[in-house]
Amino acid sequence: MTQKRVLSGIQPTSDSFHLGNYLGALKQWVELQDGNDAFYCIVDLHALTGEIEPALFRKRTLASAAQLIALGISPERSTLFVQSHVAEHNQLGWIMECLAGFGEASRMTQFKDKSAKGGADSARVGLFTYPMLQAADILLYQAHYVPVGEDQRQHIELTRDLATRFNTRFGQTFRLPEGHILKAGAKIYDLQDPTSKMSKSSGSVAGVLEIMDTPEANTKKIKSAATDAGREVKFDEKEKPGISNLLTIHSALSGRSISELENEFEGKGYGDFKGAVAEVVVEYLRPIRERALELLEDENHLIELLHTGADKARVVASQTLSHTYKNLGLVK
Ligand code: AMP
Ligand code: TRP
Repeated sequence: MTQKRVLSGIQPTSDSFHLGNYLGALKQWVELQDGNDAFYCIVDLHALTGEIEPALFRKRTLASAAQLIALGISPERSTLFVQSHVAEHNQLGWIMECLAGFGEASRMTQFKDKSAKGGADSARVGLFTYPMLQAADILLYQAHYVPVGEDQRQHIELTRDLATRFNTRFGQTFRLPEGHILKAGAKIYDLQDPTSKMSKSSGSVAGVLEIMDTPEANTKKIKSAATDAGREVKFDEKEKPGISNLLTIHSALSGRSISELENEFEGKGYGDFKGAVAEVVVEYLRPIRERALELLEDENHLIELLHTGADKARVVASQTLSHTYKNLGLVK
């Protein structure tokens, strides 16, 4: 069998994923299920490095699971699970912390950015050790590929360095994973500020299309998207970032090419075009939102699906961990 192992993770930090998360990452998670042995993890332990509110945190973890399933991650074909359900992540995480150098961990740009934001004194130790837990997530499953955005490239490199170091010092234990860096073409921008990326933390509420938003809310956001001078529907990221972003969104969801869309809307104004984009987005998201809401209505069933996923994950994770412990000379 030539199936490749794929692993990725996403933090349950909001009530809804947005269209940028979907087109930039999650759509490819769905596609990678075909022909691969995919493991997808809701990384709740990583989310503890930020502020959490317990009731909301619990709700968001379940909402993330419901949305992933509704978006097309099949709990039968893939292994979908919650990180904290598989204790091996923490256990291997500690080993990775004992392997990583203070200097190399200090060079992680995500840590530097995030700790600089809140001031060095308020940064948590967990933010510092975050990449070593991520390395454990990946190495436990002997993943071939890790589909992530460009911003995660450095963490994948660190993971490879740690795996190499371990294998060299203690014997072959971990497969060296490769980043499957998602194509830049799928970057989605804020509707109100089309020069910055669509994001819950930095963007405006009106600029972010959420999967769990009502069709009415998303229609309104698209119809009031910032557009550019002129009235031609043309892809030109420099002069027309707003229209270009809407063209990208339409094309990604409808499967029609940008030039086909430019032709269709030749001679028509921005208003017509935005109406068409709104219809494509709303009709695409409608069944996804409905399915997610349906899954959330039966919480026990959803949790059961996640437990089944964790049971499958644990089989692989515990094998890797016991091999690791043995190679380290820990007494069984
Ligand atoms: P975040 O929650 O911002 O860390 O994003 C989770 C995943 O979605 C990452 O793999 C990001 O690369 C991807 N992502 C987030 N925002 C966008 C965006 N505006 N366009 C494309 N991909 C995005
Ligand atoms: N750090 C990743 C992000 O911010 C999330 C993540 C945690 C992850 N563990 C992972 C991604 C393992 C890929 C593999 O997007």
